[in-house]
Amino acid sequence: MLTIGVLVSGSGTNLQSIIDSIEAGCLDARISVVLSDNPQAHALKRAEEHGIKTCVITKKELPKREDYDRRAVEVLNAHGVELVVLAGFMRILSPVFVRAFPLRIMNIHPSLLPAFPGLDVHRKAIESGARFSGCTVHFVDEGVDTGPIIIQAVVPIRDDDTPETLRQRILTEEHRIYPEAIRLFGEGRLTVEGRRVRIREGRFPEGVLVNPAIEDE
Ligand code: GRF
Repeated sequence: MLTIGVLVSGSGTNLQSIIDSIEAGCLDARISVVLSDNPQAHALKRAEEHGIKTCVITKKELPKREDYDRRAVEVLNAHGVELVVLAGFMRILSPVFVRAFPLRIMNIHPSLLPAFPGLDVHRKAIESGARFSGCTVHFVDEGVDTGPIIIQAVVPIRDDDTPETLRQRILTEEHRIYPEAIRLFGEGRLTVEGRRVRIREGRFPEGVLVNPAIEDE
């Protein structure tokens, strides 16, 4: 069984989807600790409701990024964490953290990377005029939203979308792909070759998507 540590700052719907997958028997993993920089994060309540240990380290306690990250690494190691799962953690990790868990940190990002890294991505995707956006689970490297891509879901952008409506539809897909990425990792099916992640016995879709749909197709 895979031991994971989840890092959160906010509402924790992705954390919830991981908890639900584990409890449903779809993901053979155990969350040994949920760590947050924000004592008010609703994600902490979700963890507590499921009897999962929580830990808060605020920026005020350790203002220097490297000190913060060193402490976080200590906590994760003390809890036997094999895979670090970033689920809405609003801090950029320093090399101190990334090097402590090489190819053992995942992040979820609400766009189809490498398009729209960073923040405010739903608005940026709409304003760009793109017909598709989506979400990406990737390994974390020392850049921001640049690591090798594991799984993506594509979400069409509608003419009447606002950043909020698009965010909601993308979030629904995030909750499907994050547990799946963790499952693939736990089953030892992911290997990284340069920027590419190979998936042993992956099932790859045949079809294509066109938006707007073409009549008679
Ligand atoms: C999600 O949109 C995720 O893609 C991004 O942060 C948000 C976290 O949402 N990295 P939640 O806290 O899991 O609800």
